[in-house]
Amino acid sequence: MQVVKYVFQPHGDERGQLIALEEFKDIPFKIKRVYYMYDTAEGVVRGHHAHKKLEQILVCIHGSCKIRLDNGKEKKVVPLEKPYEGLYVANNMWREMFDFSNDAVLLVFASELYDESDYIRNYDEFLKFIDNDSSAE
Ligand code: TYD
Repeated sequence: MQVVKYVFQPHGDERGQLIALEEFKDIPFKIKRVYYMYDTAEGVVRGHHAHKKLEQILVCIHGSCKIRLDNGKEKKVVPLEKPYEGLYVANNMWREMFDFSNDAVLLVFASELYDESDYIRNYDEFLKFIDNDSSAE
């Protein structure tokens, strides 16, 4: 499994750092939605789902967390701890977010509006879905 991490260009000067992200330039899709997680309780694991269509870029803009990616065949854990790093998460990818530091803010850019019908929240269904999807190609 290829982990795609983006390193964004900070515009730094003596005042500090600034990062600007534009759709189709820094973010590889049209940004339809932005959301963020903060005040995550200790020991919590979030996510536990995949998306049929939606793609995302995850940026831990403060603090740190870890992302477990699982394409049904392989799993990888990616630490996110730099505000200038973005992790691309494709569709058909099971994800879990965990090990949040108590100051963590995890910002997400999504390619779709919120749509519960795009979620696969059951792991066995996920495995079936990707199996059918790949045999259709
Ligand atoms: P949830 O799907 O449990 O978050 P995650 O799986 O990423 O840990 O979402 C938590 C709640 O927020 C749930 O009630 C749905 C709601 N929600 C929205 O209303 N809009 C959104 O864009 C997202 C991501 C969640």
